[in-house]
Amino acid sequence: MQILVVGGNGTLGKAVVARLRELGHSVISGGRHDADVYVDLADPESIKNMYTDLPELDHVISTAGQTTAKALVDMQPEDNMLSVQSKLLGQINLVIVGQHYLKDGGSFTLTTGIKKDDPIPGGTSAAMANGGVTAFVKSAAIDLPRGLRINAISPNVVDVSFEKLKSQFLGYTPVSITDVAEAFVKSVVGKQTGQEYQIY
Ligand SMILES: NC(=O)c1ccc[n+]([C@@H]2O[C@H](COP(=O)([O-])OP(=O)(O)OC[C@H]3O[C@@H](n4cnc5c(N)ncnc54)[C@H](OP(=O)(O)O)[C@@H]3O)[C@@H](O)[C@H]2O)c1
Repeated sequence: MQILVVGGNGTLGKAVVARLRELGHSVISGGRHDADVYVDLADPESIKNMYTDLPELDHVISTAGQTTAKALVDMQPEDNMLSVQSKLLGQINLVIVGQHYLKDGGSFTLTTGIKKDDPIPGGTSAAMANGGVTAFVKSAAIDLPRGLRINAISPNVVDVSFEKLKSQFLGYTPVSITDVAEAFVKSVVGKQTGQEYQIY
């Protein structure tokens, strides 16, 4: 199976790529730097160009998407647009465009996160993007053609990111990145669709 991981060079992405390769899959890493294929999720034309260059894809994973971390009281409408363009619309456009390119029976797996279910200060913009992606996944699952499936993974803060993020996540118990990577594997090799796997 050929699997694209957009964000394959990031913290979550590296673990997912490594696990899928360990299982014998052919994995292509996508992103704006240090990737096998270039894609900028915030640019729909770039998404289309990427798919045109990858005619043999079975599955697409996104562990990408930036968000704004800012106190609501300080937020301006333009601050929120990073989360909208990148994590929300970027991941959704990966599906809207990609549904016409994946092989029959393929799948999409997107990334959300705990901030929408267990809020932290400054997390509203990320929570908005996460919630939008979750709603899209549930609905797209009944609408996708040709047996295509779609799921989302919603991780808590992961162990390897905790040192960097612990001031935001005081009182949270980080989860193992190995468990999070395994949830992506379950989404790809399994048969479920329209699900959000919460690794909390
Ligand atoms: N780490 C955690 O504990 C954790 C927990 C819950 C949820 N999450 C969510 O999981 C996602 C990944 O987190 P992470 O910690 O792995 O982040 P990360 O280490 O910063 O990695 C992000 C990856 O996404 C790529 N990327 C970013 N913007 C992109 C764009 N516009 N187009 C294409 N690729 C893009 C980056 O590559 P380039 O910069 O080269 O494009 C990089 O490979 C984020 O949405 C985050 O909110 C993370």
